[in-house]
Amino acid sequence: MTLTRRQALLAGSATLLAGSARAAAPDDWSAAFRAALKEQPSLLGYVSAPPQLDCAELTIEGRWPAELAGTFYRNGPARHDVGELRYHHWFDGDGMIQAFRIGDGRIAHRGRMVQTDKYRREIAAGRALEHTFGTSLPQLAPPTSAAAVNVANINVISHAGRLMALWEAADAYGIDPQTLDTLGPVVWRDDLKGMPFSAHPRQEPDGTLWSFGYAPQADLLVLYHIGADGTLKAAKALPVPDVGMVHDFMVTERHLVFLLPPIHYDRDKVRAGLAFVDCYVWRPDQPARVLVVDKNSLTVTRRHELPACFVFHYGNAFEEADGTIRFDCVHHPDPRVMTETTRYVMRGEARPSPATATMLVRLGPSGTTDTRMLAGGVEFPRVDPRRVGRRHGRVWSVLLDSLVGAPSAGVIRWDLEAGTSDSHRFGPQILVEEHVYVPRRDGAEGEGWLLGTHLDARAGVTRLAVFDALKLAAGPLAVASLPYPLPLGLHGNFVPG
Ligand SMILES: [Fe+2]
Repeated sequence: MTLTRRQALLAGSATLLAGSARAAAPDDWSAAFRAALKEQPSLLGYVSAPPQLDCAELTIEGRWPAELAGTFYRNGPARHDVGELRYHHWFDGDGMIQAFRIGDGRIAHRGRMVQTDKYRREIAAGRALEHTFGTSLPQLAPPTSAAAVNVANINVISHAGRLMALWEAADAYGIDPQTLDTLGPVVWRDDLKGMPFSAHPRQEPDGTLWSFGYAPQADLLVLYHIGADGTLKAAKALPVPDVGMVHDFMVTERHLVFLLPPIHYDRDKVRAGLAFVDCYVWRPDQPARVLVVDKNSLTVTRRHELPACFVFHYGNAFEEADGTIRFDCVHHPDPRVMTETTRYVMRGEARPSPATATMLVRLGPSGTTDTRMLAGGVEFPRVDPRRVGRRHGRVWSVLLDSLVGAPSAGVIRWDLEAGTSDSHRFGPQILVEEHVYVPRRDGAEGEGWLLGTHLDARAGVTRLAVFDALKLAAGPLAVASLPYPLPLGLHGNFVPG
């Protein structure tokens, strides 16, 4: 079944808000942030980056593993201020791709803004033009479509030789892997142009890529099955009542697995002109729904319920012989990390959100569920890419005490069967970003490296650290320093070569 034109139009239309842009004086968010930055060095992570960054050679301390050669790409919000307007949410900033090129004992860095349609139009106009995910101001117009305000700022993946910057409410953007020039939206098929495409596709060991998009205004999940050669094999719009917000998903050998947190998209709030994030209502009295979708038929074959929780990210899922599906994810008791913490940090205010934990879930074939928590605040879980959809035993995450204030964070590996962990903390005023596990060629799960960036707020520079992935407590094997800071980003991936 293919998408109907009506479904495409529904899903492609963004929050069509009443009213139009009108002149207004700048609010105080920019001034409040500048004042707070003088007192809190860690807010350096939320300062806008210049549009281009280049460093021919980072300074390396320690012994960089000779086998670890390739490019580490990252993406994240980087333009938080447009003229005098400062966005009201961390997720609003326009995306910037960072590339760390590693080889022959040297590391070089390049950063380039993703030249989205939105970015180009705003550069031409010299001002911000439309409402964004978390910012709705009188001087901004209602967006005409989600594609019109695509900031391509969440993830960057390489598949079938194509590098793509990903948002989640509209198209992926193709990026030149060498120059980081923007190549334009990736159109999988004409009727899919402008449709939501997740920031978290899952690539299976054979190269197959699964993705999805959620359209709360149309109550749809759009499913994508992309072959190892990069061509679309199938797409389907799956009606899901009250689909809410679905940032990430999972695959097993036979199924796609979606957890739907009980967060309701309120169309009355849309009509009132609120920012997209403010149109969501948390319903803690409702369960989190789990949908299990058959990969062949792309239909829902099982449903489960879990206690109310909010989840951005999953490590991995796999299926046992009796049909039990097991997965791990980062459990948030509620969505305040999105509705408060990552919003008010943009004006320098600390609004801590509840502690997270690694949640291990079993979904029995007859509909039963079982959960277990591994304590310790985490985010950004990653697993061995060769284990996606297959049984895995290890997950690497960022230890995240706080996004604001004086964070002391690090990295942690959980060995899931034993329930044991291995971790490293970087120290005060070090803001730790997602770390990716890079397997050693032909190595077993865990043999290889953990690679990631951190912002040293006191020194005012970003560093790239590499660990032996089985010996985190021993500290980094090597650390490479940029001469400048990078704004805190979201996700990335290592491409060997
Ligand atoms: Fe994400």
